[in-house]
Amino acid sequence: MAQSTPALSRLVVGNWKMNGGPDQLYAAAAIARATAEDTPEPRIAICPPATLLHRLSHVLMGSAIMTGGQDCHVEAAGAFTGAVSAGLLAEAGARVVILGHSDRRQGSGEDDALVARKIAVAIDAGLEPIVCVGETWAQRNTGQALEIVRRQVRGSLPPALAGQAFAVAYEPVWAIGTGERASEDDIAEMHRAIRRELSEMFLGSRSAPILYGGSVTPEGAAAILAAPEVGGVLVGGASLRAESFVAIIEAAREADRPARETRRADRD
Ligand code: 13P
Repeated sequence: MAQSTPALSRLVVGNWKMNGGPDQLYAAAAIARATAEDTPEPRIAICPPATLLHRLSHVLMGSAIMTGGQDCHVEAAGAFTGAVSAGLLAEAGARVVILGHSDRRQGSGEDDALVARKIAVAIDAGLEPIVCVGETWAQRNTGQALEIVRRQVRGSLPPALAGQAFAVAYEPVWAIGTGERASEDDIAEMHRAIRRELSEMFLGSRSAPILYGGSVTPEGAAAILAAPEVGGVLVGGASLRAESFVAIIEAAREADRPARETRRADRD
């Protein structure tokens, strides 16, 4: 058998942010129904507000769709009013957790060092971290995007991640919720740079998918997912409606097809 780079299955993650009353569970059930008969690829996760996590995990029980948190506290336990620990997320059914989202880096002043500590706590709780990085518009405009993102990757990903399941999500801050997204060339350039950092930091490991996030829509998903080193997408607004999220999942399935066929050929 040819010794080639292992083919990776894509990861599609919905970040519901601060949206999701009980009605949102109907959307999740519809997503589960629409993807039930399919191959296990791509991997799919939905990260609801913490208040909905337990119920969503129940609704999705028996489906291949994972649930996840949008953040966790930096301590594993303690008297932290209003906070949610990684362990509590796991107990509520979470398998993944988004960490270092720009909403938190910018809105709550989280820095790389804090994100790195949260990742270590999440790993200890058995969660797969999805670690967000991305530059602002001012940083891109002044030619600093690559440097900023490389620094975030170096500073946010702790050595504890070696050998663990995790993903990195490149989310340019200016593309989040704006309807604007990075070009495929810019996405490819950034994802290659992130891959190089990961290879150096984790001894050539290729197992961590690198996702793109920022105004991903059903119309734009196929082109993004076809860009080199794009291992999936992190979707905000378009993950709230079953129709648009399922269309994005289908685009990822299509993008995964060659890898799936390689895996099948390797098995046979
Ligand atoms: P939008 O897809 O709504 O731009 O949100 C992206 C995001 O922040 C996902 O984490």
